[in-house]
Amino acid sequence: MTTGRALCQTAEAQLAAAGVASAAGDAQVLFWHVLRQVTGQALPRHALREHLAADVAPAVAQAYAVAIAARAGRQPVSQITGRRAFWKHDFRVTADTLDPRPETELLVEAALGESFDSVLDMGTGTGAILISILSERPGIRGVATDLSPAALEVAQGNAHMIGVAAEFISSDWFSEINERFALIVSNPPYIALDEMSGLAPEVRDWEPRMALTDEGDGLAAYRAICAGAPDHLKPGGRLMVEIGPTQAHDVSDLMRGAGLTDPTVLKDLDGRDRVVWGRNPVTKGA
Ligand SMILES: C[S@@+](CC[C@H](N)C(=O)[O-])C[C@H]1O[C@@H](n2cnc3c(N)ncnc32)[C@H](O)[C@@H]1O
Repeated sequence: MTTGRALCQTAEAQLAAAGVASAAGDAQVLFWHVLRQVTGQALPRHALREHLAADVAPAVAQAYAVAIAARAGRQPVSQITGRRAFWKHDFRVTADTLDPRPETELLVEAALGESFDSVLDMGTGTGAILISILSERPGIRGVATDLSPAALEVAQGNAHMIGVAAEFISSDWFSEINERFALIVSNPPYIALDEMSGLAPEVRDWEPRMALTDEGDGLAAYRAICAGAPDHLKPGGRLMVEIGPTQAHDVSDLMRGAGLTDPTVLKDLDGRDRVVWGRNPVTKGA
């Protein structure tokens, strides 16, 4: 028999050899995940201490070897555990959805700083943005779109699991949207094609390609979203989008070009440009 600690140490070395930067942390998180999965118990994290000191059951050791092999193949932890914490909830994550990033919480925070009675989230993925907003503003009309039917299914499941009511629509940006909203939010694919090869394997090889890149200059989604926003925003309504750190200028120009006023850039916790928002003139969309 082997203790949990010995297993984790071997796994850490295996992950480090595979180039995983967070080898020690990932080895422990995956051990905790496997313990919960195999025992079927909602094991609190502090109970790990006890399990690290104890001998490991063969079923746990076997499942752990599978999880570590997947991580050594650079599959993201969230896809192996099927979960990612975002804002105040745990979201189901699959190979069909982008792993929600902590920096995207800025979009949620900025949205919640405003008053609005309806919100559209375009390219919803796991639904993390819309569901987080709606969980803080019960009773508001919320609609989410995606071009990926598999992602929409995951988002719908997350809304159900978290207890939020929303409508989920398969749509190529605004193609199936026939109403106006007080707020439109989006974290669209914004990685340029020539940046794809420089991404970490966890992202480049495992996350859905259509969630990452427009196969062009990284601005195609913003062109479509900004162009369509004035016809889908109420008078004075806002468009808020997440951007890559070098895109603030281009996206602000696209907003201005579409007739949205006063584009404003917000920085994330690392001081990088992360969100741009603009407003529909009060005379438009009445
Ligand atoms: C960067 S991911 C964002 C996912 C999620 N909103 C988040 O922040 O975690 C972009 C999403 O846009 C979707 N998408 C890509 N092209 C689209 C299109 N033409 N129309 C609607 N959604 C699209 C992708 O399927 C993906 O779910």
